[in-house]
Amino acid sequence: MYIYPDLTESLHRLWAAGLVISPWLAGIDGNARFDPEIHEFLHDRSRECAFIHWTEAERALAIGDLPAPERMAQIAVYETAASAAVNLAHQKTGELDVTEAMAFDALQRVENFINDHGFATLMQLYMLETCWENLNALRYFGEIPERDYVRGSWHRPWVDYSLGEEVLFAYSLGNIELEKRGEHRFVRLTDEGRRVLEKTTDALQRAGYFRYRLETLCVSQFNLFNNYDKTDRMVWPNAIDERRAFLEWVGIKAGMRVLELGCADGVLTFAAGLAERVGPSGAVVAVDPSTGMLARARGKQRRQEIDWVDFRQGKAEQLPVDEERFDIAVGVGYLHFTNRSEALQEMKRVVRPGGVIASLHPLKMDFTAPFFREWFAPILDLAAKREEKPRDYLLHPDEAPRDFKQAGLEQVEVFMSSSELVFPDAKNVVQHFIRGVGWFGEELAPLPWKAREDLIQELIERGQSVCARYSDNERRIAWPAQSIRARVPEEPSGKE
Ligand SMILES: C[S@@+](CC[C@H](N)C(=O)[O-])C[C@H]1O[C@@H](n2cnc3c(N)ncnc32)[C@H](O)[C@@H]1O
Repeated sequence: MYIYPDLTESLHRLWAAGLVISPWLAGIDGNARFDPEIHEFLHDRSRECAFIHWTEAERALAIGDLPAPERMAQIAVYETAASAAVNLAHQKTGELDVTEAMAFDALQRVENFINDHGFATLMQLYMLETCWENLNALRYFGEIPERDYVRGSWHRPWVDYSLGEEVLFAYSLGNIELEKRGEHRFVRLTDEGRRVLEKTTDALQRAGYFRYRLETLCVSQFNLFNNYDKTDRMVWPNAIDERRAFLEWVGIKAGMRVLELGCADGVLTFAAGLAERVGPSGAVVAVDPSTGMLARARGKQRRQEIDWVDFRQGKAEQLPVDEERFDIAVGVGYLHFTNRSEALQEMKRVVRPGGVIASLHPLKMDFTAPFFREWFAPILDLAAKREEKPRDYLLHPDEAPRDFKQAGLEQVEVFMSSSELVFPDAKNVVQHFIRGVGWFGEELAPLPWKAREDLIQELIERGQSVCARYSDNERRIAWPAQSIRARVPEEPSGKE
């Protein structure tokens, strides 16, 4: 068995360089991945790069004596640059369209990474990640027709080259086998392949890869979520009133300096009245990692001519704030997406002593209503097979209060509320909860691409049937939410 060295540090360096391998972000809508000129540019430059840097010494370092096909080196450069270009597009514009400048930037980053850390490191990372994608798909489906496997159409449909080299390599290592039945050949995992998959899964888990992948997917979903404010109000009839009541409870007043976290398209900022409360004598800095959401928020701002709100790209764990100090840091429906202890420390850094940190977030809810179980059975079944509850990222009521206290905040106060979620029609519900805000993202993210897409399509079809058979009244569930507020100590508490 090929044993990978511990690649945790290398993986973190790769991310720090703005590089990813395998773009789970790819918008697969039947279009080619890039304009032909961009494809050609990346293709030619990858070949040159591999020709120069994939030396005998690097090869020996990366794979020893293993018989890896020569073209894999070029593909590793191409795939990393192509994925990084899509990632750059998603970070800079919130869309997945790659410009020439982005492709150039991505390739430059790959070359810098190779110069700094060696081709062998890039190659091992590429092999580790793609090996996981390839073997995980076989584990999930049991077998995949050879042609689909080589084209990646079930598990990596964004690739615009053949996976033949990778398949050959996996075959030569004994990780996969082929079975001929009638006219067709099918690819399956061997026992060795199963063991390799277990080891790569462990290695990637330890390195934080799955968490990173989930976070990237989450921001990408928000980028592409065009009609968030519309579907939010469709499924949550009290959406605006609850946010307004929360702002009142937090005590936001005219003239305050407020930091808003996870502002998305500005629903709390504008529709729920945060900017209006603060008024032109105060200021709002509103932060979100999703460029797509920020573009929509800025559009609303222009239409309303409000110039005391400053939208900035960033995440709660790493705030784009230097010297400023705020009276209040506030946010709705974002805390469960963050690393809470890091986010709270960051907020403490930028809120003045005696200032307030507050959040309104949904809590774990009861998914046992008959209509819901029937509708979302394909996801609930994934968890049931593991004899677990579905992974849904929502918080337990005691989690945020504990984290607020552990962060050294004082006078922690909690207010519990319950409103209702309604499920008006299949397409909007699935768009909002699954493709949009990412319910059950942890269940869906590890699935091979086709399995995830098929499952989402199945949810729409099941939803249509459920909506036809259950009344509007029956298609509701209680939605518990928690408001929490606390003060930053006047004096350092020494608990950090
Ligand atoms: C469900 S929306 C909530 C938006 C809005 N505050 C509201 O009242 O509806 C969650 C938002 O959190 C953002 N988000 C995700 N991860 C985040 C992080 N680490 N820090 C800050 N915001 C984050 C997402 O991009 C998204 O726009």
